[in-house]
Amino acid sequence: MFSKLKLFTGNANPELAKEVASFAGVPLGDAEVFKFSNDDTFVKINDNVRGTDAFIIQSTCNPVNDSMMELLIMIDALKRASAQRISVVIPYYGYARSDKKDQPRVPITAKLVADLITVAGADRVITVDLHADQIQGFFNIPVDHLFSIPIFVRYIKSMGIEEERLVVVSPDSGGANRARALAKRLNCSLAIGDKRRTGNDDNAEVLNVIGDVKGKIAILFDDIIDTGGSMIKIASKLEELGAERIFAACVHGVLSGNAAERLENSPIEKLFITNTIPLTTKNRNCKKINQLSIAELLATAIKKIHLEESISILFR
Ligand code: R5P
Repeated sequence: MFSKLKLFTGNANPELAKEVASFAGVPLGDAEVFKFSNDDTFVKINDNVRGTDAFIIQSTCNPVNDSMMELLIMIDALKRASAQRISVVIPYYGYARSDKKDQPRVPITAKLVADLITVAGADRVITVDLHADQIQGFFNIPVDHLFSIPIFVRYIKSMGIEEERLVVVSPDSGGANRARALAKRLNCSLAIGDKRRTGNDDNAEVLNVIGDVKGKIAILFDDIIDTGGSMIKIASKLEELGAERIFAACVHGVLSGNAAERLENSPIEKLFITNTIPLTTKNRNCKKINQLSIAELLATAIKKIHLEESISILFR
């Protein structure tokens, strides 16, 4: 077993890191992570970490490249300070959507990021709802891939809607397995949108919905809501097809640009997201956004990994 558990964070999502530390019952370690005026990132670990089991909690969210560099430099600092094992907790894995070469001369940035993290010196990765499961295989170190579905299930069940009135809707066929897993746990039906991208990634078109949504309470489910385009287009389609109420649940609330305004003007009643990414002030003020915490899930995983216990219970 590893001697001492140490938790650190950069500047990507310190609120989540504090919450995780509080659930884990371990104080956040003292690390200075800042930029010099020339834009170089600097890290100094002020605690003795020699021989420790160190965890860095850092989403690679906006500003994505700064968050990434902070993570890499923190790994390097801990390695050079003789931490015994370095685990990186990346609740939101930036660049995950660049996971395949689906056009000529494009990169697979999710793989490049995995290589950078490994070369920097990480021994293990803990992450939540990867855009594609196969990103786990981009790493040659262990990856613990956690799922936020139990958090959404608990919340949706607390809304007290009869199972037979609910339908979980995936915006596209790529998210069908994820939506099916939620529908199974909610014991309700499933529908799938036929979403097509026209041109760049910000333009989604929903041609049809496979499954019965008329008179139903729909829960749209996706891993990421970014510009909101996909969710809002399918919500409008569901409204047209006679869905009675429309909610949306997304693991990672990227919510870039004017996503909040678009959401306000959409048929979506409420959007449930987790706190893998912190909310900007504008997004925090959006009355339709309801953030659910994944801190306890991460803290439980960290403690179990530290104690070398199985984490399979977290997937049930
Ligand atoms: C794509 O395959 C993802 O699962 C999301 O559907 C997508 O990234 C959401 O992006 P946006 O909100 O910009 O439509």
